[in-house]
Amino acid sequence: MSVRLKDQKPFAQGGNRLCFVQPTQPDRCIKVRRPDFSLEALRASKGFPKNLRPLASFDDNLEERRVMGQLDRRLGADIYAHVSHCYGMVDTDLGPGLVSELIRDSAGPIALSLKQMLWERGLTDDLQQALDDFCSFWERSCIPSRQLLPHNIVAPRDQQGNVQRLVVIDGLGESTLLPLHWLPTRWQQRRCRNKTGQLRARVDRFLAELKAGKVPSNMGRLLHDGSPTSSS
Ligand SMILES: Nc1ncnc2c1ncn2[C@@H]1O[C@H](COP(=O)(O)OP(=O)(O)OP(=O)(O)O)[C@@H](O)[C@H]1O
Ligand SMILES: [Mg+2]
Repeated sequence: MSVRLKDQKPFAQGGNRLCFVQPTQPDRCIKVRRPDFSLEALRASKGFPKNLRPLASFDDNLEERRVMGQLDRRLGADIYAHVSHCYGMVDTDLGPGLVSELIRDSAGPIALSLKQMLWERGLTDDLQQALDDFCSFWERSCIPSRQLLPHNIVAPRDQQGNVQRLVVIDGLGESTLLPLHWLPTRWQQRRCRNKTGQLRARVDRFLAELKAGKVPSNMGRLLHDGSPTSSS
């Protein structure tokens, strides 16, 4: 039976997907393609030769499910300290949806993205520590990813309100044609160090822009906090 999402308010919207709390399981979310931005429109927005690729290759949900299956088999349960679980596809009244672990604060609300956290609280000591821990984990584990972006990482807080860890919720997979784990370990580590270095630089740049008075886009900002009364 198809899951009803149409009468629910999404808790977030990215460039490609709408994110809903799974109605029967508040610790899971369902991501569906944005109805106002179809796969056909996404493909048409790409230049030659990318626009010749099959439609399915533009589908973030299919790509994420494939990549998460591979990572789970290759690296095992350790990755879930810093990567959200993926539970496969479901039918919804808004089209096929990908079910993932919904990352929440210990007190219940949905975790803010790293971008929203920096925007609202700045780079506090607990967040700096979580960023350092995340970067060393990423460099050690050599997890293949595209660019690590602050709106694709969330920052759950413990009961005291301190950031516990950083968790990647989007953007995993190979950024190049050659699978990362085919390369010698030292090369893999260097690639991952580049990604974490660029993430730190992005954080610094974002903070500098905020300081200069720039207002960020709403991408990666929650529309509601996922409490039972906030979504209908
Ligand atoms: N599993 C999750 N747990 C908590 N929050 C999440 C989760 N997945 C997504 N979010 C929130 O929803 C926002 C959008 O999700 P997501 O990045 O998956 O959408 P997208 O359309 O694929 O993004 P992009 O614009 O990067 O293509 C994120 O920035 C994050 O704030
Ligand atoms: Mg995203």
